[in-house]
Amino acid sequence: MVAKLSFLSFLGLAPLFAAAQLSGSVGPLTSAATKAATKTCNVLDYGAVADKSTDLGAPLASAFAECKSGGLVYVPEGDYAISTWARLSGGEAWALQIDGIIYRDSDTGGNMIYIEHSTDFELFSSTSAGAFQGLGYELHAEDNWEGPRLLRLYEVTDFSIHDFILVDSPSFHLSLDTCANGEVYNMAIRGGDHGGLDGIDVWSTNIWVHDVEVTNKDECVTVKSPAKNILVESIYCNWSGGCGMGSFGSDTNVSDIVYRDIYTWSSNNMMLIKSNGGSGFVENVLLENFIGHGNAYSLDIDSYWSSMSAVEGDGVQLSNITIKNWKGTEADGAERGPVKVLCADGAPCYDITIEDFAMWTEEGDTQWYSCESAYGTGFCLEDSSNTVSYAVTTTTVSSAPSGYSAASMADDLTAAFGSTVSIPIPTIPTSFYPGATPYSALMADSASSSTSAKAHPAVGTSSSVATASASVYVAAASAPAVTSAVAPVAPVAVSSAAESAPSAAGQAQKGQQGQQGQKGQQGFSSGAHTPEPPFGSEEEDCQE
Ligand SMILES: *[C@@H]1O[C@H](CO)[C@@H](O)[C@H](O)[C@H]1NC(C)=O
Ligand SMILES: *[C@@H]1O[C@H](CO)[C@@H](O)[C@H](O)[C@H]1NC(C)=O
Ligand SMILES: *[C@@H]1O[C@H](CO)[C@@H](O)[C@H](O)[C@H]1NC(C)=O
Repeated sequence: MVAKLSFLSFLGLAPLFAAAQLSGSVGPLTSAATKAATKTCNVLDYGAVADKSTDLGAPLASAFAECKSGGLVYVPEGDYAISTWARLSGGEAWALQIDGIIYRDSDTGGNMIYIEHSTDFELFSSTSAGAFQGLGYELHAEDNWEGPRLLRLYEVTDFSIHDFILVDSPSFHLSLDTCANGEVYNMAIRGGDHGGLDGIDVWSTNIWVHDVEVTNKDECVTVKSPAKNILVESIYCNWSGGCGMGSFGSDTNVSDIVYRDIYTWSSNNMMLIKSNGGSGFVENVLLENFIGHGNAYSLDIDSYWSSMSAVEGDGVQLSNITIKNWKGTEADGAERGPVKVLCADGAPCYDITIEDFAMWTEEGDTQWYSCESAYGTGFCLEDSSNTVSYAVTTTTVSSAPSGYSAASMADDLTAAFGSTVSIPIPTIPTSFYPGATPYSALMADSASSSTSAKAHPAVGTSSSVATASASVYVAAASAPAVTSAVAPVAPVAVSSAAESAPSAAGQAQKGQQGQQGQKGQQGFSSGAHTPEPPFGSEEEDCQE
């Protein structure tokens, strides 16, 4: 599969797809195998003990110091505890192979693993089973939300993170802060059922996030400002807050963003673009091939988002946003309709297109569409070249649009994990969108399916190709990570399957959402700007 994708890329078929979004190649410049061959620093040789109690902090820092300039830092299988957070700064041509499980063992805030000022970097597990277990529930049960984030990259360029699992972070799971040319894929992220436990937050340039599953109750995969050339695809929000963009405030600078093949189940929204006041712009956005079931909101553009305090300014200017091929059902379309495009009266949005959009309600038999100061085509958008503000308009419909039915994922989570009991470490799924196959096979599967380590030729711009030269790396996995600027193949068309009847569990969980969303219950009719259900508390700001 890997070879085939590379071949397609080589033929030049794929670049057409990603070209508009990514501005160049993504991923590490040197293979992990090459790095391992240059030098391997096994943490066990630096004082680490896989006994789930010895602090991994200092051994990890020592191993990094020895291997940061061309090498592979290796955390073998086993259970480790970390109580001194690792700040790994200034690496070049290095990789971090974590085949073990690292347990949080301190309540200190900050970032458990913080990687900064690095270039040509790769973090992965060759077994696809390496994980951080954040044990956030220990803090959350005591209503403590100040614990550390699990993983944060700051000013890292030409990198990838893949085949890795993040569980139960006390705070955010993965943040990409001012990074460039990165690829994040084949990951499972599973957090508590509470706000403030974001899955992936990206404010960076030229980043491809794909084939990721997130379970939590806040951001699934979210773009913050500033960001440019971000491609997010094949994302499974398996009981989450849902994907979003924002929250945006002053000097917002976000452009060339694509979300494609996004499956959202039992989340707050399928896509929420949120701001309240502020300035700057969000432009050139494509939100394509979304399937949703059991979500509160679906398309939710809210420039008066009540969960954030208003920021000074006329509003963030949204333009050239296309919403295309959305199918499925929302939880209760009379309470929260599937189309909500509320733009700032001080900065009406324009060139908004909603097409091939068919969603219907699971509860009751009406749903609404609502727009404010929004121009473009589709639903309640006003089609005019004159873009002056206008008040909220709401259209209620009582018949289902044709073609709304859409496939479900077989393994949709049927109950939340809550935030007070231990959350088990999941395995990384092998599909993240109905009918779609991930771009790269899991490393674990690649290893077991090949009898010997074989080198794959480097093709095109892909450089992160494993070769059979390093014992540590190759022993565990012979197949390469596919990494290149190109999105290899067209998304698999999703044939509409039988409409999924909301399960008993689905109903129960809708009830729960209803409760959590009491504030939102006043509904749309009560005022110009719908209060947001406080499912997820507003996240911390991007900046530290
Ligand atoms: C927006 O960010 C880009 C870099 O991505 C920068 O070149 C541009 O100057 C910024 N624009 C504004 C108005 O800040
Ligand atoms: C609108 O955004 C799309 C990406 O979604 C981009 O391809 C296109 O060039 C943009 N149009 C303009 C006029 O900038
Ligand atoms: C969705 O989440 C539930 C609970 O974690 C899990 O049992 C199920 O396997 C997940 N689905 C997939 C495809 O991983």
